[in-house]
Amino acid sequence: MTGTVLVTGGAGYIGSHACVALIDAGYDVVVLDNLSNSSAVALERCGSICGTVPEFVQGDIRDRQCLDAVFSRHTVRAVLHFAGLKAVGESVAMPLEYYDCNVSGSLVLLEAMAKAGVKNLVFSSSATVYGDPATVPIREDFNLAPTSPYGRTKRMVEDILADWQVANPDWSICRLRYFNPVGAHPGGTIGEDPQGHPNNLMPFIAQVAVGQRDKLFVFGDDYATSDGTGVRDYIHVMDLVEGHVSALDYVCRQTGLHTINLGTGNGVSVLEMISAFERASGKAVPYEIVARRPGDIATCWADPTLAQTLLQWRASRDLAQMCQDTWRWQASNPRGYAS
Ligand code: NAD
Ligand code: UFG
Repeated sequence: MTGTVLVTGGAGYIGSHACVALIDAGYDVVVLDNLSNSSAVALERCGSICGTVPEFVQGDIRDRQCLDAVFSRHTVRAVLHFAGLKAVGESVAMPLEYYDCNVSGSLVLLEAMAKAGVKNLVFSSSATVYGDPATVPIREDFNLAPTSPYGRTKRMVEDILADWQVANPDWSICRLRYFNPVGAHPGGTIGEDPQGHPNNLMPFIAQVAVGQRDKLFVFGDDYATSDGTGVRDYIHVMDLVEGHVSALDYVCRQTGLHTINLGTGNGVSVLEMISAFERASGKAVPYEIVARRPGDIATCWADPTLAQTLLQWRASRDLAQMCQDTWRWQASNPRGYAS
């Protein structure tokens, strides 16, 4: 497939890797990002990896004039919509900012797409919409019960997209529910660059291994799991973005509303992740068991069958690769893009 793809949030962690996968697949890429949680350096480095720097527009998805200008300058075939705020704890403290950015921002984007006649959309949703699942693995038809404002913004946007597609059956919309993206491009030049204190496990482990933090705090060892620590479905970011290229191809071929998990189908505990990272990096990752983190669940992993059936996509990189690639990025860029 070819054509121009608008990538909102394309300077961010997943978006920058998606730019590389899209350019490698032959697409022209335009990125719209307000850089609220990212650096334009990531896009320059995408250019070094694939030989083409994505065109960059610094702007906000809530800025209708900015979006109209992008759509009038480019014949956009499809939009990959990554832009948004994503920290669960912050969303509890700042719910209005989350509803404004994630929900209102998506509405403005949809309106601008409709005006421009762009009808193909891939949306970044999250496994967080499932809340605490009754059983695992999690299928797409499971009950949705998000437990944070962040999760509720994702469910709301999913609902808006479903209503919009009913009203506009010639649109094609794919709602991708990601499990736990980790890892980095194997070249080690782009990766996850969290601002301040990392909320997520993998960047925290990487910062401990590189010596920026003394130890990891493991949030609880009394869950009903094999070793008592939380179990998640970690997916390599390169697998995740290859899944987006497949989803893009799929939405460009047919109309409809599609909802698809992107995960591996494997659960990994916190202690298993620590051991795998120590093996990959050759560094010790000291840790201390502390109380459970409020709102955490014991176990979460995907049933990835639908992605295999509809998209002919499945994750192929294993836990060792996730850790090796994270480590290569972290060791070469100890302070992220500011290094
Ligand atoms: P990220 O913060 O690295 O990337 C998001 C990008 O969007 C950033 O570059 C940020 O500057 C930009 N942005 C934020 N608000 C914007 C706005 N109003 N206008 C324009 N740009 C804006 O996050 P990520 O990890 O790459 O996540 C990408 C998407 O995937 C998000 O929608 C997130 O909710 C979703 N998601 C992420 C995870 C995860 O664990 N990383 C899991 C599930 C879903
Ligand atoms: N954990 C620790 N110590 C830490 C960080 C995490 O022990 O410093 C544990 C957690 O308790 C959990 C596991 O590591 O058991 C994974 O935690 P993360 O914060 O990395 O990931 P979550 O599954 O809690 O949430 C992430 C994103 C959400 C997203 C969800 C599903 O933060 O936004 O994955 O995609 F919705």
